Amino acid sequence: LYRSQGEDRNNSMGANLANDDTLATLASQINAALKSWAATPLVPGASAAGAANAVTNPADRRELIGQWTGADAATVEKALANAVAAQDGWDRLPAASRATILEHAANLMEQRMPEFLALCVKEAGKSMSASVAEVREAVDFLRYYALQARKLFGAPEKLPGPTGESNELWLHGRGVFVCISPWNFPLAIYVGQVAAALAAGNSVIAKPAEQTTLTAFVATQLMHEAGVPKDVLQFVPGDGATVGAALTKDPRVAGVCFTGSTETAWAINRSLAARNASIAALIAETGGQNALIADSSALPEQLVKDAMASAFDSAGQRCSAARVLFVQADIADKVVHMLAGAMDELVVGDPALLSTDVGPVIDEDARKILADHAERMDREAKLIKAVTLPGATAHGSFFAPRAYELKSLSQLTREVFGPVLHVIRYEASQLDEVLAAINATGYGLTLGIHSRIDSTIEKISRTVKVGNCYVNRNQIGAVVGVQPFGGEGLSGTGPKAGGPHYLLRFASERTLTVNT
Ligand code: NAD
Ligand code: ALA
Repeated sequence: LYRSQGEDRNNSMGANLANDDTLATLASQINAALKSWAATPLVPGASAAGAANAVTNPADRRELIGQWTGADAATVEKALANAVAAQDGWDRLPAASRATILEHAANLMEQRMPEFLALCVKEAGKSMSASVAEVREAVDFLRYYALQARKLFGAPEKLPGPTGESNELWLHGRGVFVCISPWNFPLAIYVGQVAAALAAGNSVIAKPAEQTTLTAFVATQLMHEAGVPKDVLQFVPGDGATVGAALTKDPRVAGVCFTGSTETAWAINRSLAARNASIAALIAETGGQNALIADSSALPEQLVKDAMASAFDSAGQRCSAARVLFVQADIADKVVHMLAGAMDELVVGDPALLSTDVGPVIDEDARKILADHAERMDREAKLIKAVTLPGATAHGSFFAPRAYELKSLSQLTREVFGPVLHVIRYEASQLDEVLAAINATGYGLTLGIHSRIDSTIEKISRTVKVGNCYVNRNQIGAVVGVQPFGGEGLSGTGPKAGGPHYLLRFASERTLTVNT
């Protein structure tokens, strides 16, 4: 079942350019785009050089992809000084000029798709179809925020003048924005954050995740080539606890756009508050404990196909991924049986191969955390299926997809960021308890519903507090401008990335009142 749905699966995840023929052509092109990448900070006037960090392929740690050098304290200081000096000039540019530069970057990225695919596959271990979707999403963010900048920042909004005065509302950049991104969308989230902050008139200091520094470096170079001045967008790679923390505690920073774990969002929030300086804007997009609820009217084939994609696509390393499948007891035996069968079909291996469904996890730390979770689940839950890892994965950071049956959601205390699906049976009479338990986690990112009963869909979707709710489909792969993405509670501050209100949070609103 799962394999025969492959083409449809690509389409439903936003990778609608990626039919099998396109993927085969792109796969051959990425080999030509491979090189040994070397990243350094991109900070005008800084002369820093630290120790080099080797980057290896998560699918085979013997393969060296490149290296990067992090920013030292002097480089961070220079970046902040440059960003302060550059912001006003960038903000004074007409919004249409900033938008044109972002659109140029989008065009360049499309032209250089093979190199970005090569980076996503080799540095982040993403499958080919996920990598195509990733580049597509980065391009979409550039174009969408350019469009929004023209619309929102192009001219002031005229306000009523009942007192005979002329009143206008202007939008400006806030100042220096620090963008801190995760490794699981090394291109799309990195570019999306940066493009939004730039579109709104901010200067940007971008600190990518340590694990995917090379991808972010190449994307930054591309944006410079497209016309973003080098002091307006600076690339400051390094460790989160040192470089990231040094940036977020600096009083010159007017805003932080962060995507990553809830724990890091708390640390950044504390750091910003402790500055006793101007009150910075914090946009935090964080993790989830995402549920998929299926009642007895669900179509089992469709449910299993969507649960497989939601749980195991990108090796489960999506914030949107389904972690818990609540299935009504009447259909649970059938669904569990089909799920185990579908998992038997999963191909785990090298993400550069088109036949691969599930690639590696990002690094050995991630693999170890998942192995510890599996060890606990082996003791406390019932194993439904553990996929057998093929021998070819021996040199990579692979974790075999698993499904467990649990008694209660309270057995999961935190986000499990990998290919593990947990199944919980419920009786129809227990639906209210299920919904309360999901809300009680405090997370609110994605929710899947499989049901053919309108009143049930309405009840669930109105009760569970999540940012993105999907009915009778998978719950991953939000499309820019179509399914604005982001959660609430422990899952983030909002606003939604790729949505019409996102740029407003990067902006200061100023009124101009003239007594005429
Ligand atoms: P992480 O929190 O470990 O790291 C994210 C970024 O924060 C990295 O660049 C890291 O260097 C930096 N960082 C770490 N400590 C810091 C500190 N003290 N100060 C400043 N910066 C610091 O997260 P991760 O492991 O890279 O990403 C996975 C997490 O991201 C998961 O929880 C996932 O759910 C979440 N995520 C959320 C979304 C969303 O849109 N809601 C999207 C993707 C990923
Ligand atoms: N926007 C990403 C998704 O929807 C995280 O899967």
